[in-house]
Amino acid sequence: MLSLDMLCIAGFDGYFKQLNPAWEKTLGFTREELTAKPFVEFVHPDDRAATVAEAGRLMAGAETVSFENRYLTKDGSYKWLLWSTAVSLKDQLYYAVARDITERKRADESLRLAKDETDRANRAKSEFLSRMSHELRTPLNAILGFAQLMEMDSLRPDQRESVGHILKGGRHLLDLINEVLDIARIEAGRLTVSVEAVSVKEVLQEALDLITPQAASGDVRLTGRAAGILDRFVLADRQRLKQVLLNLLSNAVKYNRKGGTVALSSKEIAGRLQIKVSDTGAGIAPERLERLFTPFERLGAEQTGVEGVGLGLALSKGLVEAMGGTLGVESALDRGSAFWVEFPVVDSPVMRLDKTGAALSAPASPEISRPAQTVLYIEDNLPNLDLIRRLLVHRPEVKLFTATQGRQGLDLAREHHPHLILLDLHLPDVPGNEVLRRLRGDPETREIPVVVISADATPGQIRRLLAAGAQAYLTKPLNVKKLLALLERSSAGANSAEDPRGAP
Ligand SMILES: Nc1ncnc2c1ncn2[C@@H]1O[C@H](COP(=O)(O)OP(=O)(O)OP(=O)(O)O)[C@@H](O)[C@H]1O
Ligand SMILES: [Mg+2]
Repeated sequence: MLSLDMLCIAGFDGYFKQLNPAWEKTLGFTREELTAKPFVEFVHPDDRAATVAEAGRLMAGAETVSFENRYLTKDGSYKWLLWSTAVSLKDQLYYAVARDITERKRADESLRLAKDETDRANRAKSEFLSRMSHELRTPLNAILGFAQLMEMDSLRPDQRESVGHILKGGRHLLDLINEVLDIARIEAGRLTVSVEAVSVKEVLQEALDLITPQAASGDVRLTGRAAGILDRFVLADRQRLKQVLLNLLSNAVKYNRKGGTVALSSKEIAGRLQIKVSDTGAGIAPERLERLFTPFERLGAEQTGVEGVGLGLALSKGLVEAMGGTLGVESALDRGSAFWVEFPVVDSPVMRLDKTGAALSAPASPEISRPAQTVLYIEDNLPNLDLIRRLLVHRPEVKLFTATQGRQGLDLAREHHPHLILLDLHLPDVPGNEVLRRLRGDPETREIPVVVISADATPGQIRRLLAAGAQAYLTKPLNVKKLLALLERSSAGANSAEDPRGAP
């Protein structure tokens, strides 16, 4: 095939002097037409300024390595040309090679459009999921809240058992909603983790303690408790690392055989610490390994009666990667599987890299201790108001004011100077964040600690409100014990920020 490169010589006067046949072939103009007027007139109007500037640079002795512009063709359309040019200052000439890259540009463009479309669809999906989970959390708040309240009353044993079931089911549902939301965040690249130096021994011990009852009831032995675990620090998000280890340990127990073992070990490889969970289960066939990490993929486990939804590994892999680690697996059929995670080792906890820590503490507010405590709750949802009211029945020393609208809340705050304000974000008139801003802006109410109570558990949202001056952020479904603890502390003037993901 003949070279399709378009060769030309042009003068500093702005006219083509010589053109090879590829020009006529590519643009459709004859050589006469192309040389009859300044070449810049063939350039797309939008590219002319850049072309003239480039020609000027060349005249000053520079060399074009990859300059692109659009050239007019006979049929009125434009073609993208990629230029490589040298100049002869003595002869006042440009020696140039141009290549038609229209096809490549088109391919790039359609790729970009396809990517935009995927991004848009992904954003829509995660938006949908986060709204859905928000809608699901609000009624769950009432279910879990009232069940926790009932649990505090004196109950008959059978009633206590029923309440236990409601709480267990409700918490399970909450875990699921949180997992789905996390997966959506990971897929949208919006998961935030807070990486710090984490003691591997400590986190592993906590995870092991949590898994021990499950192992005992599954007749599986946990080995390698103390031995084989290095006393080192890794860079990870503590909470998330524990979540991942729990997922791996829980799988190793669930998919094991009766009388089997789960071994935990760790070793250091080139500045990274590997933590490995090995089991003596049925193993996984090599061709199925890839599918392990697909959300809702259970690889046939749904037929075995082993409980699960197929989110654990997808979520764990996403979490580990978001923290800058790696998750891997090796498995042999009939012999067992080993899942491992790897994180960079750090010297000591002094190297803290907590990205969100700074935003989590609000300025301390001096508090004079008074015998009775007044609390203002600004919330439009009646069951939620009722929940807090019933909760405070156990605290007769607390006097509760309620407002179902933002403006009314602001008035009550100025009038009564409560010790603490509980603030919902979804209000019919003034949005909660605006109420917070006004409270902080008014010298009358500036010092009153505000605790935000919202179903929106997005880390960004939580950080914004804490930065805007909220003392703490509690997520719905409300953890009754945490709220009570906050009330207690508010009279002492202490500060707190709830772990935004804390379940009741
Ligand atoms: N250690 C293991 N040995 C054998 N099979 C496993 C092991 N871990 C996971 N699997 C298989 O991979 C599938 C996906 O695991 P994953 O943890 O993602 O979901 P799950 O355990 O089914 O549900 P959950 O969301 O509750 O964790 C499991 O259903 C199981 O078939
Ligand atoms: Mg699992």
